[in-house]
Amino acid sequence: MKPDAIDWSQLPFGYLPLPTRYEARYIDGAWQERGLVQEAEIVLSESAAVFQYAQTCFEGLKAYATADGQVVIFRPELNAQRMIDTCRRLVMPEITVEMFIKGVELVIRDNAAYVPPYGSGAQLYLRPFLMGSSPVLGVRPADEYIFRVFGTPVGPYFKGGIKPITLAVSEYDRAAPHGTGHVKGGLNYAMSLYPGYMAKQKGYAENVYLDALTNTKVEETGGANIFFITNDGKFVTPKSPTILPSVTRRSLVTVAADYLGMVVEEREVLLSELSDFAECGLCGTAAVVTPVGAIDNHGTWINFPSGMESPGAICNQLYDTLTGIQMGRISAPAGWIHRVI
Ligand code: PLP
Ligand code: COI
Repeated sequence: MKPDAIDWSQLPFGYLPLPTRYEARYIDGAWQERGLVQEAEIVLSESAAVFQYAQTCFEGLKAYATADGQVVIFRPELNAQRMIDTCRRLVMPEITVEMFIKGVELVIRDNAAYVPPYGSGAQLYLRPFLMGSSPVLGVRPADEYIFRVFGTPVGPYFKGGIKPITLAVSEYDRAAPHGTGHVKGGLNYAMSLYPGYMAKQKGYAENVYLDALTNTKVEETGGANIFFITNDGKFVTPKSPTILPSVTRRSLVTVAADYLGMVVEEREVLLSELSDFAECGLCGTAAVVTPVGAIDNHGTWINFPSGMESPGAICNQLYDTLTGIQMGRISAPAGWIHRVI
């Protein structure tokens, strides 16, 4: 699709192939860069490790058009480092931070016409991913790998933008103790498809998962971290070794403390204390800051006082400050904004 045919304000969170993407291949124990390539398709052996044993991982970050006409990315070295951590856990060759950022930059620059304009409500989403591409039959890691970065313009992940959503407490577990919840392997998302599908069938926007060991602590949703605001204005977010270390959540901790002067607590959050909170929100690259109006705990409803009509005041401030930093309206902490164009 040509960029001038896109209605930026109506874009879903979906895939639209762009003219070029970045690729590197790991062959004979070393990375070989192919640079920008045109083909959106990848041809692989039917026995490739990615198909048989889900040896694949990914990252997600956005390119933002700023108020003064630049195109920037947000803390990309944190995504690169998280992919390296994931590589170790899934026995995949580590990409380098440099290769990761270079791939992202090349894709943005070469597809600059697809960066949604400032103020449109859309962004260019970048999806770096890595997969085991050579055949395996016994359960073991592949010998060869493909690293790709593609881009696609996206609108909000949850329909309606910053409008409160409803979550359901899942009866399924997302991540086991000492499992893979803290890394971004495709396997974590495969297992969330069924609970996520069932939740959506029943009218919830998403599931919230509890810790698998005790089923008493709130962890995160299938694709975003979670936070709460107390009645006296504290920012509370779960601390757990089995949640994904969200770049957005780590940034909101700073935004809350340093920009909004809030007390921040990163700690275990019990399901039983949710009804004490004033506001709740999800955070992530795709979710940005999405207010949560209510959570259904198997028939017992937690209705946050901020309600379902509009976001709570602090969710709004967090959203405005974070997106203001990302889009150049508010000055950013040193090193957060990486200019690409
Ligand atoms: N949690 C999960 C399970 C995710 O998939 C994501 C998305 O990447 C996040 C949290 C949010 O992380 P980030 O803010 O780095 O995008
Ligand atoms: C992101 O926020 O970038 C993610 O990877 C979440 C994904 C489930 C869409």
